[in-house]
Amino acid sequence: MPQHDLIIIGAGPGGYTAAIRAAQLGLNVACIEQEPALGGTCLRIGCIPSKALLESSELFSEANHTFPRHGIILPEVKLDLATMLRRKEQVVNTLTKGVDSLFKKNKITRYLGHARINGTGQIVVESSKEKTDLQAKHILIATGSKSSPLPGVELDGDRIGTSTEALSYPEVPKHLVVIGAGYIGLELGSVWRRLGAKVTVLEFLNRILPGMDDEIAAEAKKILEKQGLEFRLGNKVTKATVQGTQCLVESAGADPITCDRVLLAVGRIPNTDALGLESVNIKLDEKQRIPVDDHFATSAPGIYAIGDVIRGPMLAHKAEEEGVACVERIVTGYGHVNYDAIPGVAYTRPEIASVGKTEEQLKAEKIEYRKGVFPLLANSRARTLGQTEGKIKILADAKTDRILGVHIIASHAGDLINEAAVAINFGASSEDLARSCHAHPTLGEALREAALAVDNRTINF
Ligand code: NAI
Repeated sequence: MPQHDLIIIGAGPGGYTAAIRAAQLGLNVACIEQEPALGGTCLRIGCIPSKALLESSELFSEANHTFPRHGIILPEVKLDLATMLRRKEQVVNTLTKGVDSLFKKNKITRYLGHARINGTGQIVVESSKEKTDLQAKHILIATGSKSSPLPGVELDGDRIGTSTEALSYPEVPKHLVVIGAGYIGLELGSVWRRLGAKVTVLEFLNRILPGMDDEIAAEAKKILEKQGLEFRLGNKVTKATVQGTQCLVESAGADPITCDRVLLAVGRIPNTDALGLESVNIKLDEKQRIPVDDHFATSAPGIYAIGDVIRGPMLAHKAEEEGVACVERIVTGYGHVNYDAIPGVAYTRPEIASVGKTEEQLKAEKIEYRKGVFPLLANSRARTLGQTEGKIKILADAKTDRILGVHIIASHAGDLINEAAVAINFGASSEDLARSCHAHPTLGEALREAALAVDNRTINF
C-alpha cells in the first residue's frame, strides 16, 4: 500500500500551496484531486476565469466609452464573445498546467479520484477506473466549498445557475437577474452589464457587500448604479423557475421579474460531505464546517483542515496562508496566520478592497479610533488614468496610532491593499505610513495622504 508522510485532499490554492511547502520541508507528499485539472475552484471556475472576463469586458467597455475621451476613435467596436470566452479558457489552462509542473518539480505524488478517509491514517481514492488504498502519517483536508443553494430557486444548470454557468453564457443575456449583492454577484453582474445585459441585483439585506465597511459599500453602490446595475435591496427571493426560454423570479412582497438568465450568488458552503469524517469521529459545526484548533488540528489525531472547510472568510489567499502555517507547524513546531491582516478584494470597477477592522466593528468593540480619508480625485495619477472615482480610508487607534483597518474603493485597490496589509502585519502606525516616501505620481500616494489625513495634515486636499 502506498505510504506518504502527508496526504492532502484537494488541489485548490490551499491544498496545492500546502503540498509545495511540505515538499520543500522534506516531507513525502501526495495530493488527491477528483478533477483532472489541478487548481481547484479558484483556478478552474472562480477567481481566475472571472478576473479574465472582468478584464476583457472592461476593455470592451473602455473601447466603447472611454477611448474617445483619450482621442482614440475606433470605427466600430464589436463583441466577439466566443473569442472572449476562449481566451478565458486559455488563461485557466495555462495556470492549471502550471500547478502540474509545480507538482512535478517538487516531487509531489498526484492521485486522481475522490478521497474518503477510512480510519486514522487511512484513505481510499476512488476513480471511475480503480480504487486505491493509501496510508499517511498526516492528512490535510483542503476540499474547499461549493455554491450555496437557495430554497425555491430551481437550478437547471443553464438558465438558472451559479457562478459556474455565469462564466460561460453562450450569448449576452438580455436581462440577467443576480440573487445576492456579494463579491460574486457584483463581479459577474459587472461583466455582463459591460457586455450589454440589463442587470438587476436582488439583495436580501438593506446594503450591498455585507461585511465590508458601510461607507465604502455605500460609495460602491452609487458608482455601480451609475454603470447601470440596478439594485433592489431588502428583497428576499423566494422562488425562481424556468418557464420556456425565460425565468420567473419571485420575491417576498415585490412584483415578480421575468428575465432570460438568473445567477444565484448567496454564499458558499463547505465541501465536507462524503469525506468519511464519521470514520474518525469528526463532527461538523452548524455551518457544516470542520472544527479545528489554532493549529488547524481537528479532533482526530493526525488530521488537519484548512481553507473554506473551516472558520473564517472563504478566500483563496486565506487558505494558502493556513496551508503553509499548518505544514510548517507539523514539521517545525511553528506556524502562524495573522487573521487581522488578510485582505479582501471585489474586482469591480473601481475595485473595492479592505483589510483589518471596519468602522462598524471598531464601534461595536468600543475601540477609540481616528479616521483619515482621501479622495482619489485629488491624486494626480488617478487624474492621468481618468479614474478619479473612490476614496481611501484609514482607521488608526486613537491612543497608539496603530493602523487597525484600511478600506479602499479605487482603481487598482486590489494592489494598493497589499501595502496596507504589510503595514498592519508589521504593526505600523499611520505616522509610519505617512512618513514612508511614495513614488510620484502613483495611486499609492493616495494611501499615504489618507495616513496624513488621520492627523489632519493632507497636502493635496
Ligand atoms: P456573499 O456571502 O459575499 O454574498 C451573498 C449575498 O447574498 C449576501 O449579501 C446575502 O445577504 C445575499 N442573500 C442571501 N439570501 C438571499 C435571498 N434569499 N435573496 C436575496 N439575497 C440573498 O457570497 P458570494 O458573493 O456568493 O461569494 C461567496 C464567497 O466567495 C464569499 O465568501 C467570498 O468571500 C468568496 N469570493 C471572493 C471573491 C474575491 O475575493 N474577489 C470573488 C468571489 C467570491
